[in-house]
Amino acid sequence: MCDSRLPNLSRDQRDFRLQSRDVHVWTIHRGAPDPMLPKFQSLLADEELDRANRFRFEHLRRSYIISRAALRMLLGCYSRTAPKNIHFDYSPNGKPSSNASADICFNASHSKAFTLLAFTRECNIGVDLEEIRPLSDMTAIARQFFCADEAAELLSLPAAERRHAFFLCWTRKEAYLKATGDGLSIGLDRFRVSLRPSEPARFIHFAEEVPSAKRWVLHDLKPVQGYAAAVAYSGTPRTIQVFALSEPTQLLDIGRIG
Ligand SMILES: CC(C)(COP(=O)(O)OP(=O)(O)OC[C@H]1O[C@@H](n2cnc3c(N)ncnc32)[C@H](O)[C@@H]1OP(=O)(O)O)[C@@H](O)C(=O)NCCC(=O)NCCS
Repeated sequence: MCDSRLPNLSRDQRDFRLQSRDVHVWTIHRGAPDPMLPKFQSLLADEELDRANRFRFEHLRRSYIISRAALRMLLGCYSRTAPKNIHFDYSPNGKPSSNASADICFNASHSKAFTLLAFTRECNIGVDLEEIRPLSDMTAIARQFFCADEAAELLSLPAAERRHAFFLCWTRKEAYLKATGDGLSIGLDRFRVSLRPSEPARFIHFAEEVPSAKRWVLHDLKPVQGYAAAVAYSGTPRTIQVFALSEPTQLLDIGRIG
């Protein structure tokens, strides 16, 4: 069973109860004191350690180790499996799934110092997290990758709103692509999402060949100040719980299971 030594958690959070229509979203800070790193490393499989060692920059290696360990620890708690015993499989486009529990679905996104992890049951889910940052080629990216109506709407906004709107659009589109698991193999211009900061996340239009909007739900997430994030999933609306930012060392206590 899971240890409940994480501070300030609700009962459902401590017990890792994931009901059939729940979506749990965790934000993990990808930083830890040096002496703690071996503990995270020890939870990873050989192929993950190989991948970690291929990062050229030490900070990227550490971030990868911590985010993978966090995924294993949380997945382990939801599925009552020892983190080290979890095995990941990958779809042809690289979407990971696990053997930990047949019906628990998850997705991950990383941006700068944070990893966003979403868990639910029996549905395709995708998340995306992006730091809202200056981009000198923002207009060119929007024209190249967004659909024409999105690019036009973005450029019609007051300059002060444009950067935020760009990242809302980006994360909403990316969350959907990650939910389907198709990655960039579906053109980003084949569907339209809302992007005005004052409007909720929603699908506006899908090209004919893209899976219908009726089968997908899109929500904004506000996990950390200065970041845009979204979650997309198949089916009808579920209950979304976004937990407060967690330090990876807090997760180590709950990771000792199985
Ligand atoms: C791989 C991709 C799915 C997401 O890449 P990304 O945005 O750079 O990375 P994120 O941090 O959001 O997500 C990475 C995580 O997604 C998961 N993932 C990988 N491939 C995936 C796929 N096909 N579907 C769903 N999830 C996937 C993995 O868990 C991965 O984490 P890991 O590397 O620790 O295993 C793909 O869509 C991509 O290459 N995107 C490029 C981004 C871009 O150009 N976006 C333009 C938006 S306008």
